Amino acid sequence: MKKLTFSALAVLFVFSLSTLFVSCGEETAKEDAKDTKEEVKEEVKVETEAKEETAVADYSKGKEIYASKCQACHQENGEGVGETFPGLKGKACDINIVANGVEGTAMVAFKGQLSNEELVDVVNYVNHAWDNNFDDVTTADIKE
Ligand code: HEC
Repeated sequence: MKKLTFSALAVLFVFSLSTLFVSCGEETAKEDAKDTKEEVKEEVKVETEAKEETAVADYSKGKEIYASKCQACHQENGEGVGETFPGLKGKACDINIVANGVEGTAMVAFKGQLSNEELVDVVNYVNHAWDNNFDDVTTADIKE
């Protein structure tokens, strides 16, 4: 009889121990799953932030337009040529001068050669080239 009680107790003890183990294991598994989820969330966030930054800082299209349409006069370094061609470095680029030109000068209107988007691209390139740091413009800044 005594022996039976003892073994019953032993079984009970082992049983409760194992339940404890299992439930602990579940907890850890849940914690792990939660951690992984948060890590994934964090990674996604970092990725989108990086994407936004490159989108803002990508002036490569404007740079190409500048090289083919503006550089001959205003120069690659944006410093222009003496009095003849003014430098574009150190001043905000006026998109309406680029669109409409300056009558009677070599600065022709570019609205016939470039689309509104291309005007915006080249102006935003100029506004961020050679240590320039001026606000981005949009097609809404172009006056008809
Ligand atoms: C054929 C030469 C030539 C080309 C090409 C040219 N420009 Fe000009 N640009 C000038 C001249 C000359 C002036 C000065 C006009 C004046 O007397 O007000 C000028 C003036 C400007 C101004 C006003 C600067 C200031 O200080 O008043 C901006 C901005 C400008 N150009 C941007 C551009 C951009 C952007 C392009 C290319 C899309 C471009 N230019 C292409 C000759 C040129």
